[in-house]
Formats: sequence, C-alpha cells, structure tokens
Amino acid sequence: MARIPEDKIDEVRLSANIVHYISQFVNLKKAGRNFKGLCPFHTEKTPSFVVSPEKQIYHCFGCGKGGNVFSFIMEYEKLPFFEAVQKAADFAGIVLPKEEYKPEKKDYFQKLYRINEIACSHFEENLAKAKNKRWLKYFLDRGLSEETIRAFRLGYAEESNNPLTRLLEKQGEDLQEAAKLGLIQQRDNRKAYFDKFRHRVIFPFFNVQGKIVGFGGRKLREEQQPKYLNSPESPIYYKGKTLYGLHKAIPAIRNKNYVLLVEGYFDLLRLYESGIRNVVASSGTALSDDQAKLMRRYTSAVYIAFDGDEAGIKAALRSAQIVEKFDLDAFIIPLPAGEDPDSFVAENGADEFEKLIGNRMQPLEFEMDRFFANNADAPLQVQEKFINDILDGLAEMSNQIKAAMYIHQLADRFRISESLLVEQLNKVKRSKRRFRKPPPSSTADETTGEARPEAPVRPEKRIVVQSGVYKAEAGVIYLLLNGDREIRHFLLEHIEHQHFENDAFIRIYEHIMHELEEEGAIEADKVISHFQEDAEVTQILSEMMLSDETPSIKYARDCLFQLQKWQLEKRSREISQLLREEQSSPESAMHYTRELSNIRKEINKLEKEHRSHQLL
Ligand code: UTP
Ligand code: MN
Repeated sequence: MARIPEDKIDEVRLSANIVHYISQFVNLKKAGRNFKGLCPFHTEKTPSFVVSPEKQIYHCFGCGKGGNVFSFIMEYEKLPFFEAVQKAADFAGIVLPKEEYKPEKKDYFQKLYRINEIACSHFEENLAKAKNKRWLKYFLDRGLSEETIRAFRLGYAEESNNPLTRLLEKQGEDLQEAAKLGLIQQRDNRKAYFDKFRHRVIFPFFNVQGKIVGFGGRKLREEQQPKYLNSPESPIYYKGKTLYGLHKAIPAIRNKNYVLLVEGYFDLLRLYESGIRNVVASSGTALSDDQAKLMRRYTSAVYIAFDGDEAGIKAALRSAQIVEKFDLDAFIIPLPAGEDPDSFVAENGADEFEKLIGNRMQPLEFEMDRFFANNADAPLQVQEKFINDILDGLAEMSNQIKAAMYIHQLADRFRISESLLVEQLNKVKRSKRRFRKPPPSSTADETTGEARPEAPVRPEKRIVVQSGVYKAEAGVIYLLLNGDREIRHFLLEHIEHQHFENDAFIRIYEHIMHELEEEGAIEADKVISHFQEDAEVTQILSEMMLSDETPSIKYARDCLFQLQKWQLEKRSREISQLLREEQSSPESAMHYTRELSNIRKEINKLEKEHRSHQLL
C-alpha cells in the first residue's frame, strides 16, 4: 500500500471534524465546551462519552476508550490505521495522493529503517557468496528452500571484525544511530566501532508494514554465547509489541481465522515451508499483553504450539492466560516431550502436525488432564491450590460467559458446587481490584464487584498499579504536554526514566523526550497521532487532554514528590520482603536493616522538603 505522507495525515486529522464524524453514530448533546453522549463502546444509561471540539478528541469516562478521529474509526469501524485515515479523508473531502510517498531526509525513523535495510542486504549478500555456501547449506539442511530464505530475507554475518561498520561508514550513515540499533558497538575506551553480529545466521524482524526493526542471530559454533543474539529495543523496536513472522502471516491468519503461536524462528520457518502460514513466533519470551492485542487485530483465536517439555507447557499455559484475558479463544496444541514444531515436522511431516492441530485442547481441559495425570488422589490442599490458581486466571478474563463455562467444567471435574466456585471467584476479583486504579466514574457492576456470568463483556481495565503513582505519572505527562516552559524545565531537570512505573507512561515519556530532542517542541495532539495504533496510550492521552487541572509548578512538585516517595517505598517494601523471606546471615540482615532505616530517613527528608515548599 502506498504510504500517506505525515503532513497529509495531519491535514486529514485537522479537517475531519470529530464532532460531526461521531454524530453519524452517536447522539451528541452540547455540555459546556464539550459534547456528551452514550458511549458506543460499552453499555450505559447515563452519558460518560465526551467529545471535545476544541481538542478534536473523544474520551469515555466510563470505559476509558478515547483518542482522536482516527482512533474512533479504528475502534468503532474496526479498521486498520491507513484505512481509517482514508475514511476520514473521504469524510473531509480530501484526496489522498496515490503515488508512493518519498520519505523526507530529516525523518529520524526513516534513517533508522535505512540503516537496518543496509545491514539486512549486507547479510543477505554474505549468504549468497560462494565462500559462505556452508551457511546457506545450514538453512537448506534445516529444511528451508531458497524461496523461503528469500521471503524472510535470512542472511549470514561473517566472522570478521567490522565489515558492516565499514559499509555503513562508506555510505555516510550515522554510526551512533547504528549503535543504538545494536548493529555495531564501540569498544570500551576506544573510538572504533566493531560489528555485533559475527558468525551467526541472521533473521531480520519486520513490522507489519514490512520494514526491518531488528535482527536475531543464531550461533553457529557450540561455544558462542548467547544462542540467539537479538537486537535491543530501540525507537523503532519494542520487543513486547512485535511478533516474528506476523507481516507474512496476516493473509493466512485472516483466511484460516486463527493464528498459530510458536516459540522459535525455525519453528515458524519450517511450518511456513510446509505450507502452514498462519504462524507467528513469540521468540522465546513470555507473551506480552500487547502481543495478544496485536493478534486480536487479525483473528479471534490463538492456537499455541510450544515445546513439549515442562518449561514449554508452563509458558504455553501462561500465554494462554494472557490470550484469554483479551477475549481471544486460546487452544493448546500438545506436542510430544522433547519436540518443538520444527523437529516434529522434520520427523513426521506436516500432515501429522495438522493432526496435532486437530487435537487441540482448551487450556483448562489440558491443565485438568495434566493435573489428574500427575496427581491421582491428590490431597485436598493440592487440589485447592490448583483450583485457586485457575480462579486467579479466570478473574482476569474479560469474557464473562467463557469464565462461567470454565467454572462449570471445573465444578464438574472436581465435583464441587458451582456456586461455591463463583463465590470464591468473586472474592479473588475483589482482592485484585483493591490494587487497581479506581475507574474514573463507576458503573453498576463495577461497584458491586460481583462476577456475573450473564453480564455483557466489559472492556478490559488497563493499568494495574496503585492509583497514587498512576495519578502522579499522568500528572507529569499532562504537565509536560500542557505546561509552560518553566514547568517543563522544572520537570525535565528532576524527572528520570526510572521514576515511572507504568509501561504506557514510559512510552509516552520517551516519545516526548525524543520529540523535544529532535524538534525542540511538542504538540499534544501530534503525540496522540504518533501513538495512533496503541489504544492504551491514546486512551490515556485523551483522558489527560480533557483534564481541567491548571498547570503549575506546585502541581509539578506534588507529582514529583509522589513519584520519588513511591520509588523509595517500593524499595523499602522489597527489602522488607527480602528480610522476611531469606534465611539471611546476621550480617546481611544488619545490612538490610540499615538500608531500611536510611530509606526511612530519605522519605522523612523528602516529606519535610515538600511541606516547606507548600508553605512558600
Ligand atoms: P530454543 O532454544 O528452543 O531454540 O529457543 P530453537 O528455536 O528451537 O532453535 P534451534 O532449533 O535450536 O536452532 C526458542 C526461541 O527462543 C528465542 C529464539 O527466538 C528462539 O527461536 N531465544 C532462545 C532467544 O531469543 N535467545 C536465546 O538465547 C535462546
Ligand atoms: Mn528447535
């Protein structure tokens, strides 16, 4: 698809009046400076859905959904970003350019993609060289055809010190940026750079637009460490938001209506080679919330095929839980112990693997079978612990109907009354809720906190950290976006990355810092556009932009105080925990106790300072 130039997107955003657009679907009434209506994203009787004509954003104070006109179209009409822009452009009567958009030179991200592209071609060319044919053979021996090798742009990094560094230099690329991307590195105290990937076969990572965001490199000699070297996170690569192979899998996922989730690069490539193409790989880490949400854009079911060993099963069940939290159907594909999908297909062929897919199991069913197989006649406490663990997972589930079905199965298998389990589940939910940010305005079922199997699906809650620190983090971002120069400077001088607790705020903070460094300024609604595809962040931003708090140094000081105090308290809790748990030696116990008392002192000092500022 032709890309749409950034300034054109801005033009559309500024021209497609959000009030008019949303009015097509929601009956909006004027309320002060804003418009209000019944939220189209959740069921409500009193309007908590607010649209601001000045700021051109919407936010629902009931369910938390929010963003700009593009977010609305994506969410309401279930369209990907570019189609949403197209739709808004049609509405505003703007004609989008058809031709390929030429990226502007100064665009920072383009520069990073360009460097990765150079590296990728370089690794591909290495693999094609006659002297490296042994490593091409490595891929062929692992069952991959040259076609697949080309499709995934696999490559080889030679065993020498700095060929990529020299190439980048020759092409006039910024070596500092290449270092940020993890391609090259400076030796400790010397200036010269050397290549990070040496003597490894290379797997480039693509984003859904097909641009290269990073690389993985597998070792080729036993003693090399680590087995797979992966690019670090960078301004264009967030591990938790990328799935290996997704860019190639999307049509097949849509077509089959489920996605197959595997762990390794070779698992994915082997399946692709055998014609099974609706596959993505989590790359060996635990599945993240964002990865689950990413899959949800394309399908409603995830089949998990992890290694058949204990660790693989644990990881599969944990991933299933995350998948189900976002109201996707999860299934486990049982593999024989000691096999991964790659080795299984190599030995048994793709047809046998299709049979395994046919034998997929619901996670709970799988888990219960495993439990009874390993714990025939388990004592009551063991059964109880198992059930409580399951309930813990169910409490996170957004689909209440499915939770009710699981309760039913659990009751059946363990011969316990269903109502008892429901009661227990509600208890777990209540205790979990205590640690969450209270919803901005309460709806009926939120206040009772009861599980109602028959209730409509509720939108998931997004932040799991205590409200005090959440508010302070939100405050800092709000002030960075809306404060004057003095406030901004004050914050930039005092705030550090480590002060943030919630991921979404870290992402916003990093982007703001990046904009300030690159552009010297920030515009709040441009920040929303940057996070366009990240519903969690756009929701937070829209909520903040509708706040009527007045920016002030005092407010900034309050937030800073809360964050600093929170970090100290957190450290103190961790140490107390260590003291309690560890059978520590008298010396280390003394050390911990001393540290605790130091932290106490620091907190006192901080509080005193804060009070004295308030008196000024
Ligand atoms: P495995 O160790 O199971 O490797 O890690 P594999 O995929 O089966 O590779 P082969 O078949 O031995 O060649 C599974 C996945 O975990 C990630 C990689 O994505 C890998 O494919 N991983 C593993 C890392 O990122 N780093 C490591 O050091 C190891
Ligand atoms: Mn393997």
